[in-house]
Amino acid sequence: TWTAANVVEEQVAAIRAQIGTKRAICGLSGGVDSAVAAALVNKAIGDRLTCVYVDHGLMRKGESEQVEKDFVASTGVRLKVVDAEKRFLDALAGVSDPEEKRKIIGREFIRVFEQAASEIVAEAGQGDEAVEFLVQGTLYPDVVESGGGTGTANIKSHHNVGGLPEDLQFELVEPLRKLFKDEVRMVGQELGLPEEIVHRQPFPGPGLGIRIVGEVTRERLDLLREADAIAREELTAAGLDRDIWQCPVVLLADVRSVGVQGDGRTYGHPIVLRPVSSEDAMTADWSRLPYDVLARISTRITNEVADVNRVVLDVTSKPPGTIEWE
Ligand code: XMP
Repeated sequence: TWTAANVVEEQVAAIRAQIGTKRAICGLSGGVDSAVAAALVNKAIGDRLTCVYVDHGLMRKGESEQVEKDFVASTGVRLKVVDAEKRFLDALAGVSDPEEKRKIIGREFIRVFEQAASEIVAEAGQGDEAVEFLVQGTLYPDVVESGGGTGTANIKSHHNVGGLPEDLQFELVEPLRKLFKDEVRMVGQELGLPEEIVHRQPFPGPGLGIRIVGEVTRERLDLLREADAIAREELTAAGLDRDIWQCPVVLLADVRSVGVQGDGRTYGHPIVLRPVSSEDAMTADWSRLPYDVLARISTRITNEVADVNRVVLDVTSKPPGTIEWE
């Protein structure tokens, strides 16, 4: 019979057999897949695994802390954090085109990750202790999808953590290859990972960089982080987290509209709420959220986030809309 405990036991044995006395690295994204894969390998080989977290500065409020503190606290994993915010923001300066943003973020990510990986490889040296393995959180549907060649990858250039550095030679360790998402969550729970990581909704690799329609700047990111945190807080408080697939919060940075606050005229930006229901993200429908929850989110965002004077709801299914705006 299938139990999470059995999967952990089997995979720990398989990982030990594969890696032997050598070392491994793993890129963490903050998402559930890489976290569970890393936790499994950590259980198998302890501090012979080094995780790398590239903080690109495009995460939501509290997410980097979740990786840097909560994940480390619950697993004891050895973690190398690379603060690359400035590098990413510099590279994104002046860029508004969605595909260009995606390419820049993907490119910078690989460069930063490669640099960190080669430092770890160099520190460990050669021989029995050499770093020869790269852990990836590939799931069963990913295996099937890459064989079938379908997916949204041809619509938007997707970026995923841990993309194989070309000139570094690693053997892959993929302990989740036979699992579906809900099974991965059970394994994560079994391994004692924090609830916020185990039940995290999907979040795109390029992060908030593709949720600002317009140029990405530090100020705009901070503003969007505030609005997004309010929306998440209210959805969680209303008990809706497991009902919706995800709820992108988008800043229309190049749009302004007239509003009124107190005695004064305002001229601020709209925030878009994009709550969707879906089975697999290939198709989606807009979630019929309760009006009172929408009202609370709208009131709080317009009151609490400077420069935002309007909240709008995206009522488009996928297709024709995609889930993300970029
Ligand atoms: P779209 O916008 O294509 O999104 O309907 C489908 C799902 O994929 C997520 N998404 C990404 N995930 N890297 C990722 O790991 C990416 O570059 C990326 N772009 C979109 C999106 O959040 C949704 O769940």
